[in-house]
Amino acid sequence: MRGLFITIEGPDGAGKSTQIELLKEYFKNKGKEIVITREPGGTLISEKIRDIILDNENKEMADTTEALLYAASRAQHVAEKILPALKKGQVVICDRFVHSSLIYQGMARGLGIDEVKAINDFAIMGLMPNITFFFDISPEISLKRKDEMGKKDRLENENIDFHKKVYEGYKKLIEKYPDEFSVIDARKSKEEIHEDIISRLPINTRKANNL
Ligand code: TYD
Repeated sequence: MRGLFITIEGPDGAGKSTQIELLKEYFKNKGKEIVITREPGGTLISEKIRDIILDNENKEMADTTEALLYAASRAQHVAEKILPALKKGQVVICDRFVHSSLIYQGMARGLGIDEVKAINDFAIMGLMPNITFFFDISPEISLKRKDEMGKKDRLENENIDFHKKVYEGYKKLIEKYPDEFSVIDARKSKEEIHEDIISRLPINTRKANNL
């Protein structure tokens, strides 16, 4: 695979979107072709699935259904958009990917990491990111930011305990798989965070030779 696959993870309201925009400019200035995308979503079908998942009306949705819908949306996204772009040598930056399912559905909903990983292995066909940035910020701060932004979806409307489980879940997963994550202190200024990200990109480190 010639492309570069970057995913961004973290609690709701961690400032991921701002950094994705800055990163997009960075790669554009380097003359790279870049695809910015997000999960759940990224393709027409995946965005339709997203609407079902995040709809505040869907209060009766079973946790298992939720996990399968995220995986279904991801399967379409990988097959239709991410893999073709990587095969063309493009840079793909995705706002959330499989780690979000392991945390939100596997840990916070309590379905189990291994169970959620199994359905996702089927969906992603072995594709994993080259690097995953985790935006480290406490749920108290991130939720305050989300409150200030206004309307919230079904997942964001979960109580503080759920969001604490999400945060603790990320910490545990990072402890278990330290090589898969690059942890970013999301309390820093947007300029400082951008610099941190750039300095850790595989194209700017010794890992570049493999790409
Ligand atoms: P979104 O508005 O994209 O949130 P954010 O800006 O915080 O990324 O909504 C996505 C929501 O779905 C978010 O609360 C995290 C959750 N989510 C899961 O529970 N599992 C998943 O696999 C993914 C991709 C997202």
